[in-house]
Formats: sequence, structure tokens, C-alpha cells
Amino acid sequence: MTPNDATATTAAPAPVTSADGREPILRARRLVKTYGRVVGLDGASLELYPGEVLAVIGDNGAGKSTLIKCLTGAEIPDEGEIWLEGRPVHFKRPQDARAAGIETVYQGLAVSPALDIASNLFLGREVRRKGVLGSVFRMVDQKGMRQRARDELNALGISTLQDVTVAVENLSGGQRQAVAVARAAAFGSKVVVLDEPTAALGVRESNQVLELIMSLRDRGIPVILISHNMPHVFEVADRIHVQRLGKRAATITPQSHSMTDAVAIMTGASAG
Ligand SMILES: Nc1ncnc2c1ncn2[C@@H]1O[C@H](COP(=O)(O)OP(=O)(O)O)[C@@H](O)[C@H]1O
Ligand SMILES: [Mg+2]
Repeated sequence: MTPNDATATTAAPAPVTSADGREPILRARRLVKTYGRVVGLDGASLELYPGEVLAVIGDNGAGKSTLIKCLTGAEIPDEGEIWLEGRPVHFKRPQDARAAGIETVYQGLAVSPALDIASNLFLGREVRRKGVLGSVFRMVDQKGMRQRARDELNALGISTLQDVTVAVENLSGGQRQAVAVARAAAFGSKVVVLDEPTAALGVRESNQVLELIMSLRDRGIPVILISHNMPHVFEVADRIHVQRLGKRAATITPQSHSMTDAVAIMTGASAG
């Protein structure tokens, strides 16, 4: 901790506005999270502004996952504050963050393979049929859900998923990822968090997911993208949060820094 940090802990949050005066939609200040003697986060701060893709990069063990878990309710920080749209939030579980509008696509567990595309999009929030069929017999409005699924996929420009009645197990890795991202974007979410969405994908499929990320941004949904892939990060990110040793080492942009610069900050060879 710097002396400055120590004196400011109880003060009101300093205004953190972007160059053009915007307020962050999501903000974390000096989060601390320890696991026994292991320090996961050591005073990590982060700001996500409306309409941007913020990449989070850092070496293994830098605290990227822990930071994201704290922002999405999967972990509760020991110290620090989180604000969503200027209001303090205290998520106890992932459902809390989700209910507040933060949707997360975790690596690996994104979809249910046996279910079709439409059912995956509505998983956990199925639309019931009107009247007693829905309220008493719990019948889902399959026709309505399928139409809404088509509309959502079209709105995101996802053209590779034509038939929403196809089981997800028959889709390619990239298409599955597209379903997971569409699901995250489909329910009026305020923030979408993607953990390594291109890690298991080939070049063409990765490009489709990157386009999807840009399409989310174009729809006004800010995205936090955790990725190890520097070219992908530099292709889609507006800003890049560099995490190192449990805290933010720097925030850079693809314009201000090269990939080599970014790696130097990640490894501590350069202060940024
Ligand atoms: N559940 C846990 N129990 C113990 N240590 C953990 C746990 N989760 C993370 N850590 C530790 O916290 C540090 C940060 O981990 P993590 O956030 O996963 O880093 P990253 O995602 O950047 O690789 C590492 O030292 C890691 O071993
Ligand atoms: Mg991780």
C-alpha cells in the first residue's frame, strides 16, 4: 500500500471520470481478497465505462479471475468497494450480480449441450405460457421463446445459427460460444463479462466471437474481456487493464502501447 492509499480508505470515492467526462458503469476500488496466506487481490481497482470493451490481461496468478469473481458475485472481497451505475453493491452470490445486470460467461461451463439453442438462451428464465397453462401447469411458451431467440441472434448479427431448434451438442465450439454470449446479452444486461472466450477456438471461430464482442459494444453493452491472446485483445479492446501481483499495474490502450509494451508491464519489466 502507498501512503496515499492508506489515508484515502475511509474517504468518499474520488470522482473517476473518463477523458470525456463519463462516469464508470462498473467500478471497483482497492479490492482485497486473501485465501489463507495467499493474496489473490491486493488492492485492485477497475473502471468499466459505458460503451467500451475493457480487456483484462495479466500473467498466471496475477488475480484476473479473482477480480472478475468479486465483480460477478462468485467471491466476496475481504475489503474494498464495488459500484454499479454509481450505487454501491454487495454481491453475495452470482445470482445477485446477474439480477443487477452483470452477466458472466465463464470458461467451459457456458451451455447445456443436450438442449436446443432456444432453450439454452432461456435457461433458468423460461417464458411460461399465458394463463393457467403457464401459471399452474408450468408449460413453457416454446413458440414465443424460439421467436425471441431468433430475434436476439439476428440483432447480434449471428448468422451461423440459423435453426434455433438444433441441440447445442451438434454445434461447433465457436457456435456454442456464440450461444453463450447471446444468452448473456439477451436479457437487458448492463455489463457482459467474458472469460477467455476464444481460448478453445480456431482462427475463423475466434474471429466470429470477436465480431460478436464488437456487436455487443455497438448495441451499447460494455464488455469485460479476460484474455491471454494479445492479438485478440489488441483487436477489440478500447482499453486494457493490466493486472499484476494482485493489483492493477496500468491501464493502457492499443493506441498508446504495443503488445510488447503490454507484456513488459505484465511481467514487471516496465512500469507502463
Ligand atoms: N480458491 C483459491 N484458493 C487458494 N488460492 C487461490 C484461490 N483462487 C485463487 N487463488 C490464488 O490467488 C492468486 C490469484 O489467482 P487468480 O485470480 O486465479 O489469477 P489469474 O486468474 O490471474 O491467473 C494465485 O496465487 C492463486 O493461486
Ligand atoms: Mg484465471
